[in-house]
Amino acid sequence: MIELYLDTADVEEVKRFDSCLPLKGVTTNPSILAKSKQGLNETLKGMSEAFSTTPRFHAQVVSTDVQGMVEEARQLNEMPYDMVVKVPATEVGLAAIKLMKKEGIQVLATAIYSAQQGFLAALCGADYLAPYVNRIDAMNGNGVEVVADLQLLLDQNQLPAKILAASFKNTQQAMEVMKLGIEAITLPVDVAAQMFAHPAVQPAVDQFDQDWKGAFGDKLSFES
Ligand code: E4P
Repeated sequence: MIELYLDTADVEEVKRFDSCLPLKGVTTNPSILAKSKQGLNETLKGMSEAFSTTPRFHAQVVSTDVQGMVEEARQLNEMPYDMVVKVPATEVGLAAIKLMKKEGIQVLATAIYSAQQGFLAALCGADYLAPYVNRIDAMNGNGVEVVADLQLLLDQNQLPAKILAASFKNTQQAMEVMKLGIEAITLPVDVAAQMFAHPAVQPAVDQFDQDWKGAFGDKLSFES
């Protein structure tokens, strides 16, 4: 089954979506945390309490050199959570990923804008790969095509890395990549809400309610 994540630092939204969706966990990045004005420790603690099951967290390093990234990853890995360390798939990041994998740290290669970049991260041992679908589209690229090409390269080379597709503006982008059979996806709160918010749904439910009450008043189904 596909792993479903929420891309947010908002604990209340995590609570809301965990109650109605089979969420695997949460992804964050430095920009999301900066916007929320709440540090990683407080955010993860709140989210951990918000979940009804043990969540998996994907948290990003902010160090910019190899040794710094590796040391930061060790510290993140020591936190009392099911933690995946996010590392930008740059030249420096790939070097850090190779070292992290020697230590058995779970890694997500992030900021992936091309299939070849994601493929290299997978060859370096990354467990998850996060191609940025909407950001690629916004640069006149084709995010879905990048995900498809990356999945093909993984399959052809029998690499175990999972694509965790990220960066979405609408449900259409999310649907297109899910149809490719990817193993994980992270959705911003607004796109997650749109997934079940077809404009015809509520009117249909209201009509059922009106018809029922007209015929049976306040009786419940099994009482009629
Ligand atoms: C997740 O790994 C990414 O940081 C995130 O999805 C980027 O999304 P954005 O393009 O909406 O900022």
